[in-house]
Amino acid sequence: ASRIVVLISGSGSNLQAIMDACQSKQIGGEVVSVISNKADAYGLTRAENAGIETCVLSHKDFSSREDYDAQLAQLIDSFDPDLVVLAGFMRILTPSLVQKFKGKMLNIHPSLLPKYQGLNTHQRAIDAKDDVHGVSVHFVTEELDGGPVVLQAKVPILADDTADSLAQRVHEQEHIIYPLAVQWFSEQRLTMEADYAVFDNQPLPPQGAH
Ligand code: GAR
Repeated sequence: ASRIVVLISGSGSNLQAIMDACQSKQIGGEVVSVISNKADAYGLTRAENAGIETCVLSHKDFSSREDYDAQLAQLIDSFDPDLVVLAGFMRILTPSLVQKFKGKMLNIHPSLLPKYQGLNTHQRAIDAKDDVHGVSVHFVTEELDGGPVVLQAKVPILADDTADSLAQRVHEQEHIIYPLAVQWFSEQRLTMEADYAVFDNQPLPPQGAH
């Protein structure tokens, strides 16, 4: 069974979906620790309710991003994970942290990458009058929101959508595709090569070609 460490900053609904999928054995693995940079993240309560160890490592206690990430890397390492899952962890990672977990760190980003990297993705998709929006699971590389895409789900943008209503519909898809990607990784069917993802020995298309 794979050892999974999940990093969060907020509500943790994706964490919940992944814990549930471990519980139901969809994922052949276990969440061994949940780490948050915010002490009041609701996801910490979710983890405690599931009997999972939690850690808070506040970036406010560090004077530089490098110092914080060095400590974070050590903390993650102490759980000897096979996979590190970023689930609404709202921090930019230093290259050395990314290097350390290369090929074993996944992120979920609420857009159809390579569109709308960064923040406020739902509002930006509405403002651009897109009719389709969505969510991407990708391997983490040094390029912010730029790593190889593993899975995407599309969501229609409706005429009366607000950022909130759209985000809610995107969330429903997140809770399906993130556990699935973690399942595949745990089954060793998903790997990262130099700059692309591989599923069942087939290279996946680069960002933008999904
Ligand atoms: C999710 O929508 C995720 O896609 C997004 O944060 C939310 C976390 O929700 N991630 C990013 O924006 C990363 N830049 P959750 O805490 O309920 O899982």
